[in-house]
Amino acid sequence: MRRLLPDPAELDDAGLIEAYRVPAGRHLRVNFVASLDGAVTVDGRSEGLGSPGDRRIFRILRALADVVLVGHGTASAEGYRPLTEDSPVGRLRTSIGRPATASIAVVSRRASLDPASGLVTGAVSPTILVTCAAADADRREALAAAGVTVLVCGDDEVDLPLALDRLAALGHEQVLCEGGPGLFRDAVTARAVDELDLSIAPALVGGGNRLLQDLPGAVRLALRQVLEEDGMLFARYALDVAGAR
Ligand SMILES: NC(=O)c1ccc[n+]([C@@H]2O[C@H](COP(=O)([O-])OP(=O)(O)OC[C@H]3O[C@@H](n4cnc5c(N)ncnc54)[C@H](OP(=O)(O)O)[C@@H]3O)[C@@H](O)[C@H]2O)c1
Repeated sequence: MRRLLPDPAELDDAGLIEAYRVPAGRHLRVNFVASLDGAVTVDGRSEGLGSPGDRRIFRILRALADVVLVGHGTASAEGYRPLTEDSPVGRLRTSIGRPATASIAVVSRRASLDPASGLVTGAVSPTILVTCAAADADRREALAAAGVTVLVCGDDEVDLPLALDRLAALGHEQVLCEGGPGLFRDAVTARAVDELDLSIAPALVGGGNRLLQDLPGAVRLALRQVLEEDGMLFARYALDVAGAR
């Protein structure tokens, strides 16, 4: 993989890890793959937009994260499974001296997670549900009884900054959010996002599933890094308004 910016270089796996490492402390990064026209799915899934390089970066971001945060819509559409020790991500995490597994935290206002799903029953690091007090109490209890760590953050809606505080209190300071578009919109609106890591596929897709459907106001980002492989661009943007010129 080639780094085009800031300084051109060929990056091997170790170089890629360094290219995505962030300083110690709290940080929320969001990772998406999108077409040039902003589509995030082909036939309802992100897979059709990916590439070997995108999958490599997806794994590196997971390896560097303390926790993976995802909206219930995405966890369900993409068939999320727990992170396990004997997976490529687990082996990568071990090779860089991190715990082999990490929790997946599912955001769901309605506590829609199924207690019998593999994401719950197969978890080594307990799956986390980020929900609010308005979610059905029986569902929350059933999930807690199944081993899910239930974080009630807010009354009628999920308070994302509070959820990030609660995750940090559990030791999960470096958060990787894998979408989807609904959760991304809410996190940007709450000004909770530090970084967007966008894989840009050289494709035009059309259709309705976009990176963002709506936003209360435009947000400016600052480009920090660009990598390239097989025509795919991998951009790191900071949501640092003061630094975006
Ligand atoms: N290309 C990519 O990189 C990429 C990445 C991610 C997703 N996707 C695609 O995007 C599609 C899913 O889109 P989506 O907008 O439905 O995704 P989503 O944001 O993952 O899911 C929406 C659902 O998640 C919960 N949720 C999200 N934000 C919440 C918040 N702030 N508070 C409380 N609950 C919240 C709600 O669940 P409840 O209804 O249970 O309350 C909501 O209905 C899928 O087709 C997926 O393949 C693509």
